[in-house]
Amino acid sequence: MKDSFINLSSFMASEKTKYISDKGDFTPILEKIAFASKIISRQVNKAGLVNILGAASTHNIHGETQQKLDLYSNELLIDILKSSGYVCAMASEENDDAIEVKERNGGDYVVVFDPLDGSSNIDVNVSIGTIFGIYKKIDSGDCVASLLQQGKNLVCAGYVIYGSSTLFVYSAGYGVNGFTLDQSLGEFILSHKNITIPEYGKIYSINESNYNRWQQGIKEYVNFIKSHPERQYTARWIGSFVADFHRNMIKGGVFLYTEDSKNTNGKLRLLYEANPMAFIVEQANGAATNGKERILDIKPTGLHQRVPLIIGSKYEVELYKQYREKYG
Ligand code: AHG
Ligand code: MN
Ligand code: MN
Repeated sequence: MKDSFINLSSFMASEKTKYISDKGDFTPILEKIAFASKIISRQVNKAGLVNILGAASTHNIHGETQQKLDLYSNELLIDILKSSGYVCAMASEENDDAIEVKERNGGDYVVVFDPLDGSSNIDVNVSIGTIFGIYKKIDSGDCVASLLQQGKNLVCAGYVIYGSSTLFVYSAGYGVNGFTLDQSLGEFILSHKNITIPEYGKIYSINESNYNRWQQGIKEYVNFIKSHPERQYTARWIGSFVADFHRNMIKGGVFLYTEDSKNTNGKLRLLYEANPMAFIVEQANGAATNGKERILDIKPTGLHQRVPLIIGSKYEVELYKQYREKYG
């Protein structure tokens, strides 16, 4: 069948034969997340028309004002995953504590997610996204403890971008594929087959307003990139990790949210931002580090722990580690 007629469901059905024996069948969870993302996409696309724009009166554990669409997306994902019968615990950026699923005896998987990434961009019509990761429950059966596995244990990870089009990108450990939502059909259609990130790029993404708080090695690295002897880099910073990350996946380059003298672990969270994207970028022949070690090897100690994140093309990520080793 031509690729242009492969929808997400049929792609997953054929791909799962590769992993079902050792990972089990988590495609119903993927289907549920895809379904939720269609609803979120609809809400995002009409946010200006209904009373869903703007800030709610609540804050999350990070002290960040929650946007109404954050809460809407969060509650939608929790409800849909709870009713799936496949999920026994969840961790969300928007919930202080883990969400245990008692209904229908839970399931054999746990899910971590950022329901809406880039929230500060909602009101100004800039692309935002959803990030998710799926783990098998650890044998001892403690679902909440299963949320704190290293990222290398992920059985699946993905993201959705709500932008010029709605794009669902995921990997189950056999490469990375993207599916564009055909609004008229309500179907995700295969549009980005076997995404691989270029070995090096010409884009670096970092919020340079933090420059004065950076350690010397970060300054030296960025200055080198800016005056690279072989190619001219350009700076791009959308302020939505999913959007900055996806652009670099397609064009090559590096995204950095490093630590600094004020935010000693950076800003992004290990469980539901860094790990899922690190899993995906490695599947696409890229790399992800905290400056010293591989993101996927870090043993989580808390649901919302932050981690410095340098992620993208191998060349720029490896070079960063060399600069931090040399200059601190
Ligand atoms: P979230 O909206 O889920 O809290 O994530 C926002 C993150 C990430 O998407 C983005 O790269 C980063 O915040 C932007 O941070 P600055 O506003 O400090 O640039
Ligand atoms: Mn986020
Ligand atoms: Mn978020």
